[in-house]
Amino acid sequence: MHRWLYVSLCRLPAPWQENAVTDIVTTSRARNAALGVTGALLFTGQRFAQYLEGAETELARLRASIERDARHAEIRTILDGHRPERLFDDWTLAYAGPSRFVSGQVEAALDDAGSADTLIQVLREFATPS
Ligand SMILES: Cc1cc2nc3c(=O)[nH]c(=O)nc-3n(C[C@H](O)[C@H](O)[C@H](O)COP(=O)(O)O)c2cc1C
Repeated sequence: MHRWLYVSLCRLPAPWQENAVTDIVTTSRARNAALGVTGALLFTGQRFAQYLEGAETELARLRASIERDARHAEIRTILDGHRPERLFDDWTLAYAGPSRFVSGQVEAALDDAGSADTLIQVLREFATPS
């Protein structure tokens, strides 16, 4: 099992963002399920943060697609590597919106890799249906 946690900067102007996120979610649900990749995406209006986990080959293929996607830039890997077990049951959009709390967690992970676990916790909490 491999995992990849990254944070990136959205390149889309605000009026396009909602449709773009809907498009990304539609594509991701189908493709991630087909690849056996689970995880969660979060969008603050400025930045994306995403945790993805799956078999090494599938994850690498997906990562290559995401890295060449012009809808975002400045992709910064926060965590990358092997992990014995999955943290997510499926793939979901954990959060999209203007939360100062969520933005703060994303910025913290960018400033300090030690905050990665807290960001993953936030992703898991939002991704878990109540
Ligand atoms: C922030 C962000 C996250 C994305 N996450 C996923 C994802 O988890 N799964 C997925 O299939 N595509 C995701 N995409 C879309 C891919 O970048 C890509 O457009 C899509 O997988 C089609 O791949 P292709 O261009 O190689 O055919 C994401 C795009 C962005 C901008």
